[in-house]
Amino acid sequence: MSDWQLAPHRTVCIEDLRQLATRRLPRVLFDYIDGGAEGERTLAQNTRAFEEIVLRPRSAVSVQSVDLHTNILGHQLNLPFVLAPVGSTRLFFPRGEQCAARAATSAGTAYTLSTLSGTTLEEVRQSASGPLWYQLYLVGGREVAQSAIARARAAGYTALVVTIDTPVSGFRERDARNGMQPLSSGSLGERLRFLPQFVTKPSWVSGFIMDGRPMTFPNIVLPTGPMPYADVGAALAQSAVTWNDFRWIHEAWQGPIVVKGVHTAADAYRAVEEGAAAIVVSNHGGRQLDGVAATLHVLPEVVAAVGDRVQVLMDGGIRRGSDIVKAMALGAKAVLVGRAYAYGVAAAGEPGARRAIDILRTDLMRTMALLGCPSLAELDESYITRRTPSP
Ligand SMILES: Cc1cc2nc3c(=O)[nH]c(=O)nc-3n(C[C@H](O)[C@H](O)[C@H](O)COP(=O)(O)O)c2cc1C
Repeated sequence: MSDWQLAPHRTVCIEDLRQLATRRLPRVLFDYIDGGAEGERTLAQNTRAFEEIVLRPRSAVSVQSVDLHTNILGHQLNLPFVLAPVGSTRLFFPRGEQCAARAATSAGTAYTLSTLSGTTLEEVRQSASGPLWYQLYLVGGREVAQSAIARARAAGYTALVVTIDTPVSGFRERDARNGMQPLSSGSLGERLRFLPQFVTKPSWVSGFIMDGRPMTFPNIVLPTGPMPYADVGAALAQSAVTWNDFRWIHEAWQGPIVVKGVHTAADAYRAVEEGAAAIVVSNHGGRQLDGVAATLHVLPEVVAAVGDRVQVLMDGGIRRGSDIVKAMALGAKAVLVGRAYAYGVAAAGEPGARRAIDILRTDLMRTMALLGCPSLAELDESYITRRTPSP
């Protein structure tokens, strides 16, 4: 077994998995995961916001065990975090979506499959027995989306996650520099310029070839067949979701809908009016509109606005168990994690994803014990405070 396959077991934090991912992936793919939109200000803010919150432990309290079970959308999960939709995961590692779904199942949590995945939603369903959510973009138009929704229903997905923050694709400067577009749709001459980054990554190259060089999205079935990677940017720009779409989406899905990409109390109200069962305070991990607030800063406003009417989840910047604690102390019912497990998949497939989940779980247990808080339900603002600005 090569070094990178063994290494995930030796990682002790998500940053270690990130380092392994850098070693295995060509730059264009590592940066696709790691990067954010434009100047990456929101990307940086998402993680920095957690540093601004300080924990306030109750000492001399013995916490023997912490129950991490969390009920989300009527499902009892073993953990208060769910794997977020991450497009193109199959490019990170052969059958990457199935690796992530299996890792989620064995940890007793849910996996969210992105519309922009390289594996069919039925194959992902077959490979994992735990709860699966399907994330919807309207790429390809309403009929194409309706057919994906029907397939997700038939396959037994339990929630539909409608992402509302992507009227066009955010501009990620690292992708532009690394030749993301020419590599997927350019002429041979244009591609050649960016090929050297693959020469030093033989394990990724062999995995990609053995996986059949997947360069289509099989859940976006156009009259001409599955949508190729090359067309996705333009297709996203023609397929913005609006609040008016929620009526037909509800009719087609007939199950719980999670609205992902809420930044304000006003949009949270609107999502509730449109029948959301849960909302995700999310800025897409800083990949869409750069310059928006860190999600942790927006969370209290949204929680105050919707109260107990729907479950409020959040994502963005979660790299440690203590980040999950802080989000829950500020009112999140649970969180979604994106890059944390994507680095794991990129580093080593399923063992990497399992390791990422394990790191977050053990971090969370330890943080709760050190905090003197025996249950997630008891987490509230009394356990945190804002860092005093240094003089
Ligand atoms: C590489 C990558 C691809 C993503 N693709 C999607 C997607 O297809 N659909 C979606 O709703 N969100 C997508 N997201 C956003 C995540 O679902 C999530 O909101 C974000 O990663 C949370 O921030 P974090 O990575 O700091 O945990 C993607 C994120 C990353 C890093």
